[in-house]
Amino acid sequence: MVETKKVFFALPAGSQPKKGKTWKASPDARRVKKFQIYRWDPDTGGNPRMDTYEVDLDKCGPMVLDALIKIKNEVDPTLTFRRSCREGICGSCAVNIDGLNTLACLKPIADVQGEVKINPLPHMPVVKDLVPDLSLAYAQLRSVEPWLKTDSPPPPDAERLQSREERAKLDGLWECILCFCCTTSCPSYWWNGDRYLGPATLLAAYRFISDSRDEATGERLDALKDPFKLYRCHTIFNCTQTCPKGLNPAKAIGDIKLLITEREGG
Ligand code: SF4
Ligand code: SF4
Ligand code: FES
Repeated sequence: MVETKKVFFALPAGSQPKKGKTWKASPDARRVKKFQIYRWDPDTGGNPRMDTYEVDLDKCGPMVLDALIKIKNEVDPTLTFRRSCREGICGSCAVNIDGLNTLACLKPIADVQGEVKINPLPHMPVVKDLVPDLSLAYAQLRSVEPWLKTDSPPPPDAERLQSREERAKLDGLWECILCFCCTTSCPSYWWNGDRYLGPATLLAAYRFISDSRDEATGERLDALKDPFKLYRCHTIFNCTQTCPKGLNPAKAIGDIKLLITEREGG
């Protein structure tokens, strides 16, 4: 028998799980900020809840990730989240803060009025607390073969070179850190995530379509010409608005559609 794992989905913005436990700051704390954090543990079961942690900002770094680390280190070691670089490079600390998908390490606490509400990235299965299951998103990324593909042999004793203009075409694409803030903000992905590739993966596909050294452009465009993989994008632009790196996946998707149309002589 196949063992099925119980997973919870983060709730849509506006609806919250029931209030859970409150962890008070010490009585001598002078600058107290409340953090409401989504909690769900597959081992103990039960419904998700929002725990409240009071943090003394005089003893905490400036970013939301600093508060999460402080809570885990000093208050509640069971709180689970991903992080690595602490400087907006690895993409692992992506969460939903006050309704916006972003990187906890780049989000100043001071930018949030009132209580800071932290949920996992929306519409993804939850592994535990703030950790989403990104298996499907990574499988979709693999499906577009995000690496250079060539048939011709490389030049002898040299790299495959690009002109400055050719290299410049990759700006706005190579900077993607695969945080999936965009994909999990996309309504089309929420409803058709099993078949629509989503903005992060399509941006990655366009990065290689745009690379002058890649020799599989036609094959890549043919693979994307599909009513679901690509054309579920309805140009709603949530993805571009939420990208913490200031990238524009909606434009990349539009450019892929244009290339397909041009290739067909449209
Ligand atoms: S522009 Fe496309 S990919 Fe971006 S949020 Fe809208 S539907 Fe999703
Ligand atoms: S395009 Fe932006 S939001 Fe989307 S995965 Fe890349 S860095 Fe993250
Ligand atoms: S911890 Fe690496 S991007 Fe935030």
